[in-house]
Amino acid sequence: MKHIGTKEIHTERLLLRKIRMDDAQDMFEQWASDPRVTQYLTWPPHKSVEDTKQIIALWMKDLDEPQVYRWVMESKTLGKVIGTIDLVSVDSRHRCGTFGYCLSADHWNKGYASEALHAMLKYLFVEGDFHRIEATHLIENPASGRVMVKCGMKEEGVKRQKFLGHDENFHDLVIYGILKDEFLAR
Ligand SMILES: CC(C)(COP(=O)(O)OP(=O)(O)OC[C@H]1O[C@@H](n2cnc3c(N)ncnc32)[C@H](O)[C@@H]1OP(=O)(O)O)[C@@H](O)C(=O)NCCC(=O)NCCS
Repeated sequence: MKHIGTKEIHTERLLLRKIRMDDAQDMFEQWASDPRVTQYLTWPPHKSVEDTKQIIALWMKDLDEPQVYRWVMESKTLGKVIGTIDLVSVDSRHRCGTFGYCLSADHWNKGYASEALHAMLKYLFVEGDFHRIEATHLIENPASGRVMVKCGMKEEGVKRQKFLGHDENFHDLVIYGILKDEFLAR
């Protein structure tokens, strides 16, 4: 499989680009320290900007590798980062990627995640060599599934109690997927 890495993508309101160390303060303030954002994610809120800097340093290590697809969403009007969208795993043998996204709560329900996801799918299917893109969300987080449906993804089932949450309870995950042909037919 041919990989094309994290190239810049422009949408109407967003620039999707590689993260930089000077994004740390905005990332910390906008979403990484906010328990509303991390509630349904695997990681706890960052306690200080030092936590954020450590994660950015980790992300930057392999950011230029062609098989790494990891963007921040920069608001064109604000000129600062408001979220991330990335492939959390890539299965080159089966040309399949699994994505995740998160966005500052100040900007929820304004279509930003849908705008970013649509642009990323186009990049991965049209410029890239992917056959299938998939994702899951906690059953208690329907807004995430709504974004996927708006971008043409299909619900494929439920993984029962697959996710151990911050509350120490197991939660069901809803699975979504989209194939290249389905995306191109839209
Ligand atoms: C999930 C997330 C990325 C969505 O981002 P967003 O920019 O607000 O998404 P959009 O505005 O593009 O679309 C949100 C859709 O969900 C809908 N929605 C919001 N809350 C909802 C709820 N409780 N139940 C059902 N739908 C809901 C909105 O109405 C909108 O749909 P519409 O355009 O048909 O009205 C954002 O909420 C987020 O970052 N959450 C925290 C991190 C997270 O959960 N990430 C996903 C992990 S799988």
